[in-house]
Amino acid sequence: MNRAADAMARMTATDPVSAAGEPQICVIGAGPCGLTTIKNLRAAGFRHVTCFDEGEQIGGNWVFSEQQDRPSVYECTHIISSKKLSQFEDFPMPDDFPDFPSHRQIVAYFEDYATAFGLRPHIRLKTHVERAVRGDDGRWSMRWSSQDQSGSDVFDYLFVCSGHHREPYVPEYPGTFSGTMMHSGTYRRAEPLRGQRVLVVGGGNSACDIAVDISRVARTTCISMRHGVYIVPKLLFGQPTDRLVERVRSYLPKSLLQFALRTVLRMFVGSWKAYGLPQPTCGPLEMHPTLNSTILEALRSGTVLARPGITRFDGEIIEFSDGRKEPFDTVLWATGFHMSFPFLAPEIVGWPRTQPPPLYLKMMHADIPNLYFIGLFQPLGCIWSMADYQARIAAQQIVGTLERPKDIRRRIANEVLRPHWHFTKSPRHAIEVDARFFRQELIHELGRANA
Ligand SMILES: Cc1cc2nc3c(=O)[nH]c(=O)nc-3n(C[C@H](O)[C@H](O)[C@H](O)COP(=O)(O)OP(=O)(O)OC[C@H]3O[C@@H](n4cnc5c(N)ncnc54)[C@H](O)[C@@H]3O)c2cc1C
Ligand SMILES: NC(=O)c1ccc[n+]([C@@H]2O[C@H](COP(=O)([O-])OP(=O)(O)OC[C@H]3O[C@@H](n4cnc5c(N)ncnc54)[C@H](OP(=O)(O)O)[C@@H]3O)[C@@H](O)[C@H]2O)c1
Repeated sequence: MNRAADAMARMTATDPVSAAGEPQICVIGAGPCGLTTIKNLRAAGFRHVTCFDEGEQIGGNWVFSEQQDRPSVYECTHIISSKKLSQFEDFPMPDDFPDFPSHRQIVAYFEDYATAFGLRPHIRLKTHVERAVRGDDGRWSMRWSSQDQSGSDVFDYLFVCSGHHREPYVPEYPGTFSGTMMHSGTYRRAEPLRGQRVLVVGGGNSACDIAVDISRVARTTCISMRHGVYIVPKLLFGQPTDRLVERVRSYLPKSLLQFALRTVLRMFVGSWKAYGLPQPTCGPLEMHPTLNSTILEALRSGTVLARPGITRFDGEIIEFSDGRKEPFDTVLWATGFHMSFPFLAPEIVGWPRTQPPPLYLKMMHADIPNLYFIGLFQPLGCIWSMADYQARIAAQQIVGTLERPKDIRRRIANEVLRPHWHFTKSPRHAIEVDARFFRQELIHELGRANA
């Protein structure tokens, strides 16, 4: 008997398991988090794993697509979390990859991962999951459609790996803008904006990457930030900044670490005022980092101009909080994304999108033991390597070597009310985690396993 069949034998009568034999497991999404989920389920011995992905290729939003309705990186995307801290721990990136690989290299890496771990036979591409309905017997009925057919299959477990950078968040401001509005989620390249007066809104990684990209062809490029943001060069002392911070923090307490980082940034970057940017009001590790060296140069060279927050629109004129009024042709909202699970009933995922999800370790639902969310967090660091640990925890729970916590509600309340790291209050931080602490928590959970 293999481990999966063994697990079946150990399941209690209340476990939602197929009467026909081994558990049938569904994974939604073949992005990096879905891939590592399939890998861990296979490693635990589960054979009946089906992954649906509506895309034409594995790799999730790292697969560049011209299609506006596909979540996709833009042409100039390179990762911001460096290679060594972004790779799966059991599958290093190739030696000849640079510190910050391009999206094409990242997709090639995921392709290699899928091949190396034999994941492809489990993946059904170009197949959209429309609905996932949990029946009275606890099993999941998955309604799917592809180009020429549709159908429904029943599964014992559901893994949601559908990503959280899909549903654009577009804020509303008073007045009406007569120009064009677009969101970073549909941005692919600068060329369509050639010769235009463009305002990019936001201070995150999308905003800074895109502002620099656009500035090469636009007539004017401005970037509007409603408050101060730490823009951190990708390299410090000749090393990827995330690796340097990771190294230093193992022997510095948090308060000293914040102080040290602030000091180093002051030395390398200087005063935010010199860039026309507002002063951040929190510590550098208390907000999701913006890692970008070129925006700093662009702001000092005047190819990108800093603006404060928007107050209102009036035709082509945009008014800013400092009283300035300026005409623009296009507003590009780089204002982030909403979590969204259109295939699940609101009773299951009805938490406010601006609040931390009530999920233990960002993955386990309080009431539904056969549902797992993998990758539903935003680290100061990289998502995939920690999604690998989450998937391992889930696989071990299904096998039966790791017990689902009995006091899960208490643990969820604790996680929501007493997060392991303090981040400033902002909707974008609802799922923010500190990579190091989160990894430790996941490893600690795995340590409870009895095999
Ligand atoms: C421009 C950009 C740059 C980024 N850079 C970094 C970085 O440097 N480091 C980092 O850690 N993160 C970065 N990210 C975040 C990025 O989202 C994650 O790295 C990663 O892609 C998340 O993996 P995932 O598998 O959870 O989701 P995704 O990559 O979004 O994959 C989800 C998959 O689910 C599929 N899917 C969703 N719904 C359905 C459905 N109903 N039916 C069928 N299939 C479905 C989609 O087709 C997709 O393939 C970046 C994001 C963007 C937009
Ligand atoms: N090169 C790369 O690797 C790369 C590139 C792009 C994105 N990413 C990753 O992808 C994820 C998404 O990044 P993102 O930059 O698209 O989104 P994000 O990190 O959520 O940033 C959104 C930005 O928009 C601002 N904003 C939100 N609402 C606003 C409003 N009403 N008015 C004005 N500004 C508003 C936010 O500021 P507040 O703090 O005030 O809300 C924030 O500065 C992140 O994990 C990021 O690291 C990586």
